[in-house]
Amino acid sequence: MYFCILVMAETVIIPGNLSGKKERYEALMPQLKGLVSGETDFIANVANLVAALKETMDFLWIGVYFVKQNELVLGPFQGPVACTRIGFGKGVCGTAWKNKQVIIVPDVNQFPGHIACSSLSLSEIVLPAFKSGEVFLVLDVDSQHLDHFDAYDEKYLGEVINIIENL
Ligand code: SME
Repeated sequence: MYFCILVMAETVIIPGNLSGKKERYEALMPQLKGLVSGETDFIANVANLVAALKETMDFLWIGVYFVKQNELVLGPFQGPVACTRIGFGKGVCGTAWKNKQVIIVPDVNQFPGHIACSSLSLSEIVLPAFKSGEVFLVLDVDSQHLDHFDAYDEKYLGEVINIIENL
């Protein structure tokens, strides 16, 4: 089994036998940087970043929500249809925005106020991205597995946030 990712009109192959998440992230990260290096459009780059992550990692859903006035509004994503708007401090995404911090939720049913866009989602991680010290978007990743996200996800998805902040 192989994962194919189109990078700048070249097909890059990530062997599917890189079964561990660390190995997958390690193989993917340089390619994500290459993926955005030739394009200046922010939305196009974020769309391709989340697509590449969805194709490579074992995620149910990955996408961004943009801070627009007093709400988060759905941006580029991959996976099942999602909620379009989330209030400040609401759900995991709104809480990560309010608290300006990464949140890992091992079991979404144990998170008070969790917003269930898909009943298949069992765990999630949300990472805020900053511009001039303020959150301007959050990256939300959901899994169909309980307790799926750990320090590796926080580290490598944190690098993705760094790429997004510098687009
Ligand atoms: N679970 C999120 C809502 C967004 S969907 O999962 C895509 C939350 O509680 O913030």
